[in-house]
Amino acid sequence: MHRTHHCGELRRSHVGQTVTLGGWVNSYRDHGENLVFVDLRDRYGKTQIVFNTEDNSDIDGLARKLRREDVVKVTGEVRYRGDSLVNPKLTTGEIELRVHELVVLSRSKTPPFEVEGGDLPNEELRLKYRFIDLRRPELQKSIILRHHLTQAVREYFNGLQFLEIETPMLGRSTPEGARDYLVPSRVHPGSFYALPQSPQIYKQILMVAGFDRYYQIARCFRDEDLRADRQPEFTQIDVEMAFVERNDILAMIDGLVAFVMKAVRGVEIKTPLPRYTYADMMERFGSDKPDLRFGMELIDIGEIAQKSDFGVFRTVMSSGGRVRGINAKGAADKYSRRLLDVDLKNFVSDFGAKGLAYMKVADGKLESTIAKFFSEELQQQIISRMNGENGDLLLFVADQPKVTSSALSALRNRLARELKLFDPSEFSCQWVVDFPLVTWNADEQRFDAEHHPFCQPNPEDVELMNTDPGKVRADSYDLVVNGYEAASGSVRIHDSAVQQQVFDLLKIHPEEAERRFGFLLEALRYGAPPHAGIALGLDRWVMLLAGDENIRDVIAFPKTQKASDLLTGAPSDVDARQLKDLHIEVTELPDDK
Ligand code: AMO
Ligand code: AMP
Repeated sequence: MHRTHHCGELRRSHVGQTVTLGGWVNSYRDHGENLVFVDLRDRYGKTQIVFNTEDNSDIDGLARKLRREDVVKVTGEVRYRGDSLVNPKLTTGEIELRVHELVVLSRSKTPPFEVEGGDLPNEELRLKYRFIDLRRPELQKSIILRHHLTQAVREYFNGLQFLEIETPMLGRSTPEGARDYLVPSRVHPGSFYALPQSPQIYKQILMVAGFDRYYQIARCFRDEDLRADRQPEFTQIDVEMAFVERNDILAMIDGLVAFVMKAVRGVEIKTPLPRYTYADMMERFGSDKPDLRFGMELIDIGEIAQKSDFGVFRTVMSSGGRVRGINAKGAADKYSRRLLDVDLKNFVSDFGAKGLAYMKVADGKLESTIAKFFSEELQQQIISRMNGENGDLLLFVADQPKVTSSALSALRNRLARELKLFDPSEFSCQWVVDFPLVTWNADEQRFDAEHHPFCQPNPEDVELMNTDPGKVRADSYDLVVNGYEAASGSVRIHDSAVQQQVFDLLKIHPEEAERRFGFLLEALRYGAPPHAGIALGLDRWVMLLAGDENIRDVIAFPKTQKASDLLTGAPSDVDARQLKDLHIEVTELPDDK
């Protein structure tokens, strides 16, 4: 061992001992001729080490040549700093190490940015020099939190007779809806494996095989448009159970959430977590993953708007649209005309809204450029419907129902953040159940599975399968945390006839179904127990628990928005020889390549 203790370990009780530490030079302070202070850092903390000509005659030759991020080994005596010099911010703040011997184990080039202090450079530089970025205490904390979370998950499931079973990376395409990452086979030229978008089909087959309680910390791959909460390669806490119904899964995951929150954050979560229907959430918040740390529900004023003289509202109402609004309580003075007419209007236009109407409540009346289109009586009705009080800002979008939902739910999130309507350290977890089974894909003139094609239709809605498929509810559920979809799952179809019925609805022809999922259909014909499951997005959970908003900050080696790894330079060209072995020829490349 190169060290006797780590840099977060020494306390007053060690005073007088001779110890050896190893670590990185975090900072360096020259205090005149005879004295040099260095903060030595490792993953456990920092210790102040002192070079003094009394103890070590050659401080010029060694200590004064140290630079940030050099790796050193120091041996010396632990000393109490003295009452007035204790640093309460450091766990080792009571002591310092008087160095007798210094060995430089490795020199560092001048780092492109500082590990502590200093301005955070742009993310590209951080990702390129990830080994330095990862030394930052914030990232170290998140990576360690991730470890604790993973271990807590394992502890929970292992205690309940779950088996952790691995499923293949090189497999067949799974239908989660994104593009697959393909891996060419050398042995079977012209054939490809698909990296799993999730272990969905394998875990269902494990249920048919009798492993009635399964979990896996599973890596998933999806070639899709990336956002702040999405990575092309991410990790799921994947779960499946046999001989269970929906409520069994919800209760099992309630238990997991409570266990993990307690273990990792020391937070008590009350279970059962509240459950809401998809229809209820869409109506009240315009979103299937509303942040429930604050209210500001969407309110429909269509009936009132219809009676007004405001052309925009009337036209929208007569073409089957809706007029809905939100009440930003007490915010009338917080948004200037410019903010409302330009910033917020542009913001909602990104969600398809053609405009943003707003009214302020003042002296019990509405104040707005469009107030003149509303009679006194209609104004009172609007105020009352919107629970308006003097000082409130009412904002409205008139459009097709979908647009009012997406524009207002996004606006609701933005305003709540700007108006500080919630405590960012609070957690709000809720179930959303009864999603639609399918959604209409207008481009392709067919239905798509809302979740994936193996969800059990709600038995009460079986009749609707033939008459009005868009109304069929799935026996499915999402877990929403602070406005993020943190988990998603469903009861599965375990009857091959029902499965075929759903494929028919999705216009997946029997031959295609057989070609893509024949092995699953076949398995369902050999004694399949009723089963259900769920997958939690591990990266998102860590992000939420760490209080981050960028998923890349909780992944040791993440990819950029453009799916590249700036550290290693992946993806990259490969040798002509490798391509030849695979019988692959690269033809046209887009111009920017
Ligand atoms: P789903 O596709 O909803 O379900 O994924 C489950 C959870 O995984 C997380 N997630 C992601 N996290 C980071 N980056 C991504 N690109 C990404 N995509 C998804 C989300 C999501 O809720 N097989 C089903 C689960 C099941 O039915 O059991 C599935 O994969 O938190
Ligand atoms: P206009 O009559 O187009 O000048 O619009 C008057 C106000 O109504 C402006 O504040 C617009 O942003 C707003 N507005 C226009 N179209 C809509 C709409 N579809 N929904 C909500 N407000 C709108």
